[in-house]
Amino acid sequence: MEISDPEIDQLLYQVKNRYGYDFTNYSQASIKRRVIRFCEIHRIENYFDLKHHLINDHILFTDFVLQVTVNITEMFRDPSFFKSVKENLFPHLATYPHCKIWHAGCSTGEEAYSMAIMLEESNLMKTTIYATDINSEVLMQAREGTYSMKLMKDYTSNYIKSGGNNSFSDYYTAHYNMAIINAGLKKNIVFSQHNLVSDGSFNEFNFIVCRNVLIYFNKDLQERVLNLFYESLVPLGYLGLGSKETLQFSSLRDKFEVIDKKEKIYRRIE
Ligand SMILES: C[S@@+](CC[C@H](N)C(=O)[O-])C[C@H]1O[C@@H](n2cnc3c(N)ncnc32)[C@H](O)[C@@H]1O
Repeated sequence: MEISDPEIDQLLYQVKNRYGYDFTNYSQASIKRRVIRFCEIHRIENYFDLKHHLINDHILFTDFVLQVTVNITEMFRDPSFFKSVKENLFPHLATYPHCKIWHAGCSTGEEAYSMAIMLEESNLMKTTIYATDINSEVLMQAREGTYSMKLMKDYTSNYIKSGGNNSFSDYYTAHYNMAIINAGLKKNIVFSQHNLVSDGSFNEFNFIVCRNVLIYFNKDLQERVLNLFYESLVPLGYLGLGSKETLQFSSLRDKFEVIDKKEKIYRRIE
């Protein structure tokens, strides 16, 4: 199916007016690909039908949100990021009586569970993880914490590369073809819905992790979200963006020092 840029713009404005979800500042090329994919899955053949169905069908819209927000994730994704966090940040975080970590755009929860495992192994038990996402569907899966056994081999390899101390299989129970994350890891994680586009700051954090999310936003929206993170950090709090994103072109650049250049981990200094 063909869809022009002005049609995409118009569609996103109508979605915003109808449902309050604002995708107008998402990167145009990526959102266009996702909308086309959504049409293919639902066998929608033209722009007129797409607009009509989307505006009138709530359930279809739920799937639209799922499709346009890319939800791919892994446990210990980019293991060198976790390794760096453990080596460079944990010794400082250990000096606080209680820590708060925010995973913004946590998808189905793997990233937050990975952090919970690392915290447990480093005896940083007095930490609360707030894991948020725009998408209620992925949050449901995150709260459940049940993943395909097929993935566990790759996750085990990631865990080892991250510097894990134990046997990764200690953290889940195999049930048929599924791996159920240990209940103990869920204790300190709060999963909740939060939209980085429209919702404000909801707490003060020692560490904010937001990886593989800003790449889907245009420059203006990236800047707005980075401001939100800045406001949500305690003085000397850390921001981890992961290797694909950067603060380098942001006006906030001077308010942070670089902790790890490759993993894009920063510390708020002003
Ligand atoms: C590619 S996943 C990244 C997951 C995880 N951070 C990682 O690196 O593996 C991107 C996540 O960002 C979420 N997302 C997209 N737009 C968002 C928004 N406006 N507010 C909050 N989350 C959003 C998506 O729903 C998706 O789950």
